[in-house]
Amino acid sequence: MRTLGKLTVPPIGYGAMVLSPGIYGEIDDDWALAALRHALDEGGTHIDTSDAYGPDGHNERLVGRAIKGRRDEVVVATKFGLAVPEGVETRSIPVGYAFGELRGNADPALVRGYAERSLRNLGTDVIDLYYLHYPDPGVPVEDTMGAVADLVRAGLVRHAGLSNVTAEQLRSAHAVLPIAAVQVEWSMWRPIDPELLAATRELGVGVVAWSPLGSGFLTGSVSKLEEGDFRRHAPRFDAANLAVNNDRYAPIRRLATELGITPAQLALGWLLHQDEHVVPIPGSRTPSHITENLQTAGIALHPDTLRRLDEALSSFKVEGGTLL
Ligand SMILES: NC(=O)c1ccc[n+]([C@@H]2O[C@H](COP(=O)([O-])OP(=O)(O)OC[C@H]3O[C@@H](n4cnc5c(N)ncnc54)[C@H](OP(=O)(O)O)[C@@H]3O)[C@@H](O)[C@H]2O)c1
Repeated sequence: MRTLGKLTVPPIGYGAMVLSPGIYGEIDDDWALAALRHALDEGGTHIDTSDAYGPDGHNERLVGRAIKGRRDEVVVATKFGLAVPEGVETRSIPVGYAFGELRGNADPALVRGYAERSLRNLGTDVIDLYYLHYPDPGVPVEDTMGAVADLVRAGLVRHAGLSNVTAEQLRSAHAVLPIAAVQVEWSMWRPIDPELLAATRELGVGVVAWSPLGSGFLTGSVSKLEEGDFRRHAPRFDAANLAVNNDRYAPIRRLATELGITPAQLALGWLLHQDEHVVPIPGSRTPSHITENLQTAGIALHPDTLRRLDEALSSFKVEGGTLL
């Protein structure tokens, strides 16, 4: 097990975003629920969702159905700030993703309403880990997190998290209430900001790595993308760039083969070996992949292997940039 602040979780979590339609292409609820239940059965009991995945809390409602009757086995993590009620103003979040503009509102006055809606969707009376999904450029993070502190005092939330923040934002928020985890995109093809990593170490905050498989690329199995898959918008997944990136990634795939593990396990293992407080949350709709990913927790990588891997990564230039 690993710790995110004072919260104990398995080394590998499960990212549920892949289970809502319109993100990684189409999927139905039976398929999604079977994947979620498989994750829980195999020890993927830290489930990451958001009120913004799928329409009208679809992803949270799926998680609610899967954890019914087994709530005590599960660490439920969700996020707020992007799914803004109709009629409430939103502000543009300056991230520059190719798939489109993100808008949100993290006004402290809205936070209790967000949490109550998530609790209803999840069919639970407490959220184990509650993240601000993206900082709102119109509201200092410490103000938003002041409202999360109220939720902790009211017993609606157990631990607070921040997603997609800078080191400075983490420090400001941590002064208001203890932050258990920072969620950030981090994988072999998307480095973490060293200042943010240093701040998490110093403050005793966990790092939850989102898209730890590079949105599937690092598994070595993405060669073409279907209609309706959001990755089609990302320059690094553009057909020509993807072919180049797959060629450049070949030495790392070969290293996995040599070690007798899969490229997905090498990518997750590399993250687990960066530090004790790092927890990747891979997403998958495929039961065999879910099992393979969770099994990475038992794979030790030798320091020589990590050195070879870092050397290979230092000459792995990603065509199309590293933003989704
Ligand atoms: N905080 C944020 O802003 C933020 C943003 C994005 C994501 N997230 C969180 O991070 C989680 C993970 O991110 P993600 O799902 O976008 O990316 P990911 O975990 O890097 O990759 C998911 C993709 O990898 C494939 N895959 C997974 N395991 C595999 C394996 N062993 N072999 C081959 N293919 C495999 C999946 O396909 P199959 O379904 O076929 O296995 C899926 O297409 C999300 O679910 C979400 O909870 C957070």
